[in-house]
Amino acid sequence: MRYRGGMSKTSTPVDATLFAYLAGKTIQQDDYLSRLCDAANEAGLPEIQIAPEQAAFLRIVLRAMAARTVVEVGTLGGYSAISMARALPADGKVITHEVEAKHAEFARRWIADSDQQGKVEVVLGPAAETLARLPDGSADAMFVDADKTGYVGYLQQAMRIVRPGGAIFADNVLASGRIADGTGEKERALRAFLDAAQARSDLHGVVVPLGDGIWFGTRLG
Ligand SMILES: C[S@@+](CC[C@H](N)C(=O)[O-])C[C@H]1O[C@@H](n2cnc3c(N)ncnc32)[C@H](O)[C@@H]1O
Repeated sequence: MRYRGGMSKTSTPVDATLFAYLAGKTIQQDDYLSRLCDAANEAGLPEIQIAPEQAAFLRIVLRAMAARTVVEVGTLGGYSAISMARALPADGKVITHEVEAKHAEFARRWIADSDQQGKVEVVLGPAAETLARLPDGSADAMFVDADKTGYVGYLQQAMRIVRPGGAIFADNVLASGRIADGTGEKERALRAFLDAAQARSDLHGVVVPLGDGIWFGTRLG
């Protein structure tokens, strides 16, 4: 069905000035995670962690749904994993999956030194293989933030691993603004993900345009 909303009625454009004002009113900076980003940069990890407003959004949703177990695909230095763990109860757990040994080792170190020590497990290996080990219905939520060509497969795994009523998030669905017409592998993979999500009657999703865009859906059932 064709989208019939009108931009002027449904969306107020947010420019950099407006965003800076709103961020100042809503997003708390985190010293530990800022230091983690600096150290990751110095260690040569790519600077591709989620934005602070995306981290805040994930935490708010996870807290609101009283999530206890969260699966992540794409650990990098542990920024989003530590951030999400803060939204979980003391016995909650983030199980985060990472293919690069250097990233996993850095993340493990920073997780061990953080206030979330013991709540985050880093699983090393290609997520297509490591996710397959997780039991059906064992997570309240899953956050996908890794190789874009894997997203369709990760969605299939999410629909098995996340319990009915749970939440699924996927980052970068704006593809730096090129999602609608970009011709690269990344844009095509992300469009395939959006198509796959839309085609499922047991999934209800929407795009939240924070950072590079988070697709946010719930598994119906
Ligand atoms: C965008 S970064 C993750 C950022 C992290 N979620 C954060 O915000 O702090 C993507 C990560 O996914 C990892 N990755 C890429 N392909 C993967 C795969 N097949 N399995 C597991 N991890 C993968 C990369 O090595 C990289 O560390």
